[in-house]
Amino acid sequence: MYAPQQNNVTQTLIKLDKLCKSYHLDDANGKTMSTQVLFDVALNIQQGEFVAIMGHSGSGKSTLMNILGCLDTPTSGSYWLAERNVAALSNDELAYIRNRHIGFVFQGFNLLKRMTALDNVATPLLYAGINRSNSRQRALEQLQRTGLEKFAMHHPNQLSGGQQQRVAISRALINQPSLLLADEPTGNLDSQTSREIMTLFEQLNQQQGLTIVLVTHEEDIAAYAKRLIRLKDGVVVYDENHNVMNKPSPTQ
Ligand SMILES: Nc1ncnc2c1ncn2[C@@H]1O[C@H](COP(=O)(O)OP(=O)(O)OP(=O)(O)O)[C@@H](O)[C@H]1O
Ligand SMILES: [Mg+2]
Repeated sequence: MYAPQQNNVTQTLIKLDKLCKSYHLDDANGKTMSTQVLFDVALNIQQGEFVAIMGHSGSGKSTLMNILGCLDTPTSGSYWLAERNVAALSNDELAYIRNRHIGFVFQGFNLLKRMTALDNVATPLLYAGINRSNSRQRALEQLQRTGLEKFAMHHPNQLSGGQQQRVAISRALINQPSLLLADEPTGNLDSQTSREIMTLFEQLNQQQGLTIVLVTHEEDIAAYAKRLIRLKDGVVVYDENHNVMNKPSPTQ
């Protein structure tokens, strides 16, 4: 069901219809205030796409990503993931999908500080019930694929920002997800390291058919994606496949 696209047959991985999200917060007088942050979002994302989401701070990008990642639920409207209605899934099914089928990468890397790079990468396998030695072996192989095996026994504070993000990406990939969600993955990195991380995403998309949805504030980072979505005040105001001719090379 979640296999990457094959034989040029595209399958819809994500389908959002009239999706709305409101947050409810108590004000200083104890009165509940409701703020709507997403308005009638309709989106189809096919397996194998590489999508960038842009928009001003507060436009609802992370809110949308949290819903796509099954970390939060819409207030109304529907979300179909691999043809399954997410609202109809049990908590156990949602946890299974988050663990096995979705990889998350964040701006702040979100690595566990007390663990080595190897154990950080192995953690999702342990949650999936795989024993420690097999988990570590697979984690080491994943670190080799991302060029980090010599840092396997380093703790996060012994790694550069770019290396930490590569560890976080390795962790996100360890269960071979079909969907990678990255919320400002280069937000804490310099421009050269950002280009290296984006080149890695590009390879994962092109060579493995990994579906990637990425949030960024930077146009040159968004240029690595094949499709650009712009959010303004919770509304999709732009959604186009865009020209990747002007993408900077990793060495520039
Ligand atoms: N858990 C929450 N409870 C209440 N309001 C929230 C919550 N999370 C986000 N918001 C509000 O929803 C709006 C959209 O926030 P969101 O984090 O999705 O924006 P964003 O586009 O990711 O911004 P940024 O670029 O700064 O990361 C903001 O006004 C924010 O204050
Ligand atoms: Mg955000």
